[in-house]
Amino acid sequence: MAETSVEDTIARPERFTVPSFRQRKAEGRKIVMVTAYDFPSARIAERAGVDVVLVGDTVMLMLGYENTVPVTLDEMIHHTRAVRKGVKRALLVGDMPFGSYQTGPEEAIRSATRFLKEGGAQAVKLEGGAPVTETVRRMVEVGIPVVGHVGLTPQSVNAFGGHRAQGRDPDAARRMLADAKALEAAGACAIVLETIPATLAAEITASVSIPTIGIGAGPDCDGQVQVWYDILGISTGRVYRHVKRYAELGQVMEDAVRQYAEEVRERRFPTSEHSI
Ligand code: KIV
Repeated sequence: MAETSVEDTIARPERFTVPSFRQRKAEGRKIVMVTAYDFPSARIAERAGVDVVLVGDTVMLMLGYENTVPVTLDEMIHHTRAVRKGVKRALLVGDMPFGSYQTGPEEAIRSATRFLKEGGAQAVKLEGGAPVTETVRRMVEVGIPVVGHVGLTPQSVNAFGGHRAQGRDPDAARRMLADAKALEAAGACAIVLETIPATLAAEITASVSIPTIGIGAGPDCDGQVQVWYDILGISTGRVYRHVKRYAELGQVMEDAVRQYAEEVRERRFPTSEHSI
């Protein structure tokens, strides 16, 4: 079989579907996931050739919430619908918010169905290991592709007592490996590993047949996910160690708006060029 180079993937971005997750892992090709919350960002992600766009509950950054806990299902569906319009080739994954699946499979299926029917998502992501595997199994059984998420699961920030790395001691690491295997057995199509030691992420990645998508989980995961506002330098507040800021757009935006304000005050805008 002819090898596909990184250059080929960029030049001819292929349509990414749910089966592509396993195929990419088998081929040893990295999976690129990024979050997006609106139509223009979705179009940029699509044009940039990312494989998977996640409408994450990190939409809390856009909505001004302190963490992901207050994000509602209606808010998630609203943003997923906007992102859907900008994404054609990349796979669209909707993030199940806190309180939309915790009571069990029926609630989870009802919520995920809204993501697929109203939001246009092709898969959903939910947080947790062993306690949600029966829910994942039932969802997959009725045709809902599910991405798992273990490690630092931000919806449990209150239980964790803050944003702390997980899986650092041997017992916790063993439990996380078991969680990942249980999600695989339940039919999850991929697993996000968040803020865990790189060595543990490598071990989990080698132990499951579905791809791992890391964020703060080192270089050996099958793919990586980053938060839109983080990589573009728009986030305010704490910058986590796993974040690489590829641009400082927050500063660019502030400078542009400041210049606009100055020009209006100093009567330099609008000129005849911008007048009718
Ligand atoms: O909501 C989100 O952005 C996420 C990613 C950090 C994986 O869940």
